[in-house]
This record gives sequence, C-alpha cells and structure tokens, in this order.
Amino acid sequence: MSTDAIVILKNDHKEIRRLFGQFQKAGDKALKAKQDLADRILEALTVHTYIENEAMYPRTRELLPELEDDVLESYEEHHVADVLCMELATMKSSDERFDAKMTVLIESVTHHIEEEEQDWFPQVRAGLGRKTLSEIGEQMMEMKKTAPRRPSQPGALKKVVDAVIA
Ligand SMILES: [Fe+2]
Ligand SMILES: [Fe+2]
Repeated sequence: MSTDAIVILKNDHKEIRRLFGQFQKAGDKALKAKQDLADRILEALTVHTYIENEAMYPRTRELLPELEDDVLESYEEHHVADVLCMELATMKSSDERFDAKMTVLIESVTHHIEEEEQDWFPQVRAGLGRKTLSEIGEQMMEMKKTAPRRPSQPGALKKVVDAVIA
C-alpha cells in the first residue's frame, strides 16, 4: 500500500464520494439506510478532516508558504463541513431538515474535494518531493489509528479553533 500522502487522501476521497453516491441513491423513505450511511459519512469525514488538519495542511503551509491562501481557504471549508456534521450527528433521518442538510454537506464537500484534487494537490506534489510526501503519509496513517471518529469527540475541531484564534 502506498504511503504517499496524496494517494492516501485521494483514496479517502474516493470512499467518501462512493458513500455520497449511495446516500443520493437511497429513496426518500429509506430512513434506516440513510441513517446508517450518514453515520459512515460523518465518521469518514471526521477522520479525513482530522488528518488533513493535523498533518497535511500544517506541513504544506510550513514547507510551501506560497500556498498559504489555499490552505486558509481549505481550513474554512473544513469548518463549514464540521458545523454541518456536528448538527447532523444530533439528527435523525426522519427529521424534516435531515435530507436538506445532508445535501448541502455533500455539495460543499464535493466542491472542496474537487479543489483539493484539481488545484491544490498538483501544486503540493510539484513543491514537495516524493520523500516528504511519503513521510507525511506515514504520519497520517499513524494518526488514523487514534483519530476522533465522531464530530463531538475531543480533537475533531482543534485545528480549526487554532486557525480562527491564531
Ligand atoms: Fe480537505
Ligand atoms: Fe481531502
């Protein structure tokens, strides 16, 4: 399995997109299926955002200061997703606003993933060598073992708070 940071993050994106697709295909009445999928989506996003916030973003910001604006914009997009995830974690799939909130989450995260993959990662790959990307990847795989899995768990929002008050 590759330890390249960008390969790891793109694999996460692929799984997140797959879950989004399943959610979108579930019928309006499939309350149990939508609840289960939402749980898995929230877990996947919480872990993924955590390793980006704790490893990928700060290392990129440190090593490639010219990408600072992209990193800051991405932190803000994570923050928007975090707020939606925190709200969804308290909701049931039968709630009136559940589908609408999931739709907004899916739209905004899909946009964010596209920006990462199309604008951001190619610049990061060009700027950082294979060795550094592999070091960051190993660090992220270690972090995944103990990463928060629910939006409400300690640490899930840490770096965003740091970014806001820095
Ligand atoms: Fe991200
Ligand atoms: Fe990502």
